[in-house]
Amino acid sequence: MVNITDLESIAAKEARTLYPVHDFIRHRWSARSFAERPIGQEELHTLLEAASWSASSMNEQPWVYLYAHRGEAAFQRMYDCLLKGNRWADGAAVLLLSLARKNLTSKGEANRHAMHDVGAANTTLLLQAASMDIYGHMMGGFDMQKTIETFHISDDFEVACFIALGYLDAPEKLEEPFRTREVTPRNRKPVDAFAFAGELPG
Ligand SMILES: Cc1cc2nc3c(=O)[nH]c(=O)nc-3n(C[C@H](O)[C@H](O)[C@H](O)COP(=O)(O)O)c2cc1C
Repeated sequence: MVNITDLESIAAKEARTLYPVHDFIRHRWSARSFAERPIGQEELHTLLEAASWSASSMNEQPWVYLYAHRGEAAFQRMYDCLLKGNRWADGAAVLLLSLARKNLTSKGEANRHAMHDVGAANTTLLLQAASMDIYGHMMGGFDMQKTIETFHISDDFEVACFIALGYLDAPEKLEEPFRTREVTPRNRKPVDAFAFAGELPG
């Protein structure tokens, strides 16, 4: 098995921050090179339960997931919905399809926070994954119509994204341009570019 601490990608992708963020945040990044090692059903349920402990408007918990392990027919069906830029995702151990239930359960009215809360749940899932040395990668690059038809998704749901999950492997496993992306350092806007005291800058 690969000793992941030796991987070039780990060092390249670590968040270099001005302020001292938690290690799980520092070490989460959107990987593409995944090991053969499967993710067990118990581990997958741990990740999904972590997602469920996310906050949501009125505790509606609008998140719904479809999951498939590599080798299962549904995995191939999910993979076939992805666009070319995500063709690296066939190496994932698990693919998730993340959906948002659009309406409030009690009133049937639109839940205007649904997508917000699903995004929060997805990030919670990925932080739990980071704590277990499992890497995840959200993907908005997919064929929406094909996804809706393939998975018989009714109008009650909005498709949020796919998520690839797996244990990390070496960047050399990937073809270009994915190999280079796997070792390209991450960057972020500084806090003072998006957070302002009391009012927006003029
Ligand atoms: C909703 C969403 C959709 C994304 N879609 C894709 C995608 O289709 N393909 C891809 O390679 N990365 C995708 N990403 C990953 C982003 O490119 C990545 O999160 C961003 O570049 C920051 O990098 P980091 O997650 O490694 O910090 C997506 C991320 C999110 C949150």
